[in-house]
Amino acid sequence: MNLRESKVALPEGRPGPSVQEVLARDSRPAPDVLRFESPVEGLGSDDIAVERYFDPAWHAREMDLVWRKVWQMACRVEELQKTGDHVVYEIGDESVIVTRTASGEIRAYVNACLHRGVQLRTEGGCVERFKCPFHGFTWDLDGKLCHLPSPWDFAHVDPEAFRLPEVKVGVWGGFVFVNFDPACEPLESYLEVLPEHFKAFRLEDRYKAAHICKVLPCNWKLALEAFVESFHIPVAHPQTTSYVAWDTTQYDVFPGVRHVNRMITLEGFPSTAVGEVDPQETIRQMQRDVAFHAKSQIEPGERQFVRDQFADAAREKLSRSSRRDLNDQSNAEVVDAIQYFLFPNLVPWAGHGAPICYRFRPYRNDPERCVMEIMLLFSKAEDGSHPRPAAPHWLEEHEGWSDAPQLGSAGFVADQDTENLRRIQRGLRATHKPGVTLANYQESRIRHFHHTLDQYMGVKP
Ligand code: FES
Ligand SMILES: [Fe+2]
Repeated sequence: MNLRESKVALPEGRPGPSVQEVLARDSRPAPDVLRFESPVEGLGSDDIAVERYFDPAWHAREMDLVWRKVWQMACRVEELQKTGDHVVYEIGDESVIVTRTASGEIRAYVNACLHRGVQLRTEGGCVERFKCPFHGFTWDLDGKLCHLPSPWDFAHVDPEAFRLPEVKVGVWGGFVFVNFDPACEPLESYLEVLPEHFKAFRLEDRYKAAHICKVLPCNWKLALEAFVESFHIPVAHPQTTSYVAWDTTQYDVFPGVRHVNRMITLEGFPSTAVGEVDPQETIRQMQRDVAFHAKSQIEPGERQFVRDQFADAAREKLSRSSRRDLNDQSNAEVVDAIQYFLFPNLVPWAGHGAPICYRFRPYRNDPERCVMEIMLLFSKAEDGSHPRPAAPHWLEEHEGWSDAPQLGSAGFVADQDTENLRRIQRGLRATHKPGVTLANYQESRIRHFHHTLDQYMGVKP
């Protein structure tokens, strides 16, 4: 895994110091998995056709060729703690009930009554069996029919064979994934390098402390793309540039890897683009925006000194709030934005300092609307205990992310993005240019995403 010695061609012209140079000087060094970079190679510079952001025909093909083929995160394991706990996961027309059976297995059933098709569950909860609200056909948690009303009238139904159909389920990192394709590749190979990378980060030791959902007026890919690059930060989020080093962000697309990429954006000192910043200003703004730095004692000094102090303060506060000793965490894990992507729509962050996870998917069957979800995955206590996982909280159309106090300053930042997303969707409808043009390096994760999307869609590059 340690590729520090490997010869990669670094992006020419990228400002410094590089993420790797800073991590090498940190008072607590980052794990090996963060100590190398892998800039994109060989994906070209072609524009991305705008139709894929609104064309209903493209959307319908995406449903068949992507969403019905990929492994997708349906919920967290801790939401299925007890027998009968279940979550309803929906994508396009598909709907499944993901549940914990009496034997402790996790299964996913197609959410439709086998009598006349009624949706068995409209939301999650805990039940002993799944009873249809129409005529009362009932299935147990193993998917077996356990009540058939008027059996004399259903001589043509074999109760043994009348089982709820299942879709595939897999678990990794405390996430439950489903796959609608019975012939799909195993989750283990689908995840590629992700499990190896996350050995250091152990998301299975987290629990979902917040879960905020919002329907956005844009295609799901536009929302996703706005959250996997730091290039927009100085213009869209100017309030952060004295403590977010957006312009030295490292973007990694790993050779031969289809489903995973990552970026690392350093925090705790300014971007080079804003020039000389009084360290007091960095300290003031970080204490304003990042809750666990609010009352920390940080002495002004040279950049690395300030960053190291932020890391010390974060380790202490995170250990206290999580009832887990996080003092062995590197500076990067408690200060920086370490963000991974799993195709097609999951964006788990690795560190404890920004314990975020995004999920993006189409809203029903509308190519011009999507659901964006922001989850916070906090550390479980040392003994594995944790509060009840947060249920999804849906924001109303008129509400912003800032109306969810759980998100802290991240809510304000996401509102800035949301406003842009509305405008991107409209702009792509209005434009006379057939494609969007991407930066070769800073938007390489978006290009990589489309490259993989093309493979699923059968589009020739
Ligand atoms: S539709 Fe479900 S019991 Fe009749
Ligand atoms: Fe943003």
